[in-house]
Formats: sequence, C-alpha cells, structure tokens
Amino acid sequence: MSSIIKKIIKNYKTNKSLYIGEKVTMTEHMIQTAMFAEKNESSPSLVCASLLHDYGHFILEDPEKLVNKKEDGKHENVGYLFLKKYFNKNVVEPIKYHVKAKRYLARNQKYYQILSPASVASLHLQGGVMNDNEAEKFKKNMYFKDAIQLRKFDEVAKKNGIKMKSINDYENLLNSNLR
Ligand SMILES: [Fe+2]
Repeated sequence: MSSIIKKIIKNYKTNKSLYIGEKVTMTEHMIQTAMFAEKNESSPSLVCASLLHDYGHFILEDPEKLVNKKEDGKHENVGYLFLKKYFNKNVVEPIKYHVKAKRYLARNQKYYQILSPASVASLHLQGGVMNDNEAEKFKKNMYFKDAIQLRKFDEVAKKNGIKMKSINDYENLLNSNLR
C-alpha cells in the first residue's frame, strides 16, 4: 500500500470528531457519502471524490471552533490543495466545487428547505445562495455535474443506524484513483 493511502486510511480510523452539528462522525459521513454514490451507480472517480470530499476537515485544526467563531475554514480548498498532489483531477475537482454546488442548489426553495440547521448556518458563512450571474458561470464548469451529484450524496449522508462499510473496503478504489 502506498504511504499516502496508509496515511489517509489511518486518519479515517483515528478521527472521532463529529460532523459539525450532526449525529454522525466525519468518518461515517464521508463513508456514507461514498455509499450513496455507489448506490447511484456513479463513476469510480465520483465515488472516490465522495469518500474524500470533506478530507479538509481532517486537516483543519478545529473545524467546530471555526463554526462557533462564525468563520469559514474553506475546507473544500484545504482538502483540494492537499489531495490534488495525489489524486486524479476527476476526483479532486468535484471536491473543490462541492460547496459551490450547495450554494447553487440552494437557489431552489425546496432544496433550501431540506437543509439541516447546521447546513444553513454554514451556507451563510460560505457566501450564501448563488446569484444569477454566479449560477450561469458555474453551470459552464466542466465539473458542474459531478459537483452537484456529490453535494446531493453529501446532503443525505448523515444517517444513524445504517449498515456501514469500512474505510478498508475502499482501499482498492483509493489506489486506482491515484494520479
Ligand atoms: Fe460533507
């Protein structure tokens, strides 16, 4: 196993912090996101992106403290900058844009209403709902579709009591998406 995959897997196993404002850990949240991507028959690169999408929260020192201080840690950029050294573009670009995807999707009232309280709070710190100009520009992004899909899996991946996969189940997937 490459040393970076070893390091990543170890982080999923040792990090016990809760996903901010939710009832699952960050690790469970990311694994569930990947599980939903698989259920949806997504491409391997999108499953891998889903699995790693909040990796920036593992790197940020204290994500919860930032939220309490009403600051945005820009976890999507932190994760992207780290992961792009090791993973393919198709994996890291949707990660970089998954917050933009949320800001785009929130333009829809129905979507906005299903956001959890924690998710609404972070949305405001992240720049709020996209305006028309931003949305038009974002739609032309090559990774628009994948980022939107990723965000949809992200949104539902906060469930308690579902049968979970382990990070070890994704070792081959991680390996095959290295650049
Ligand atoms: Fe997430």
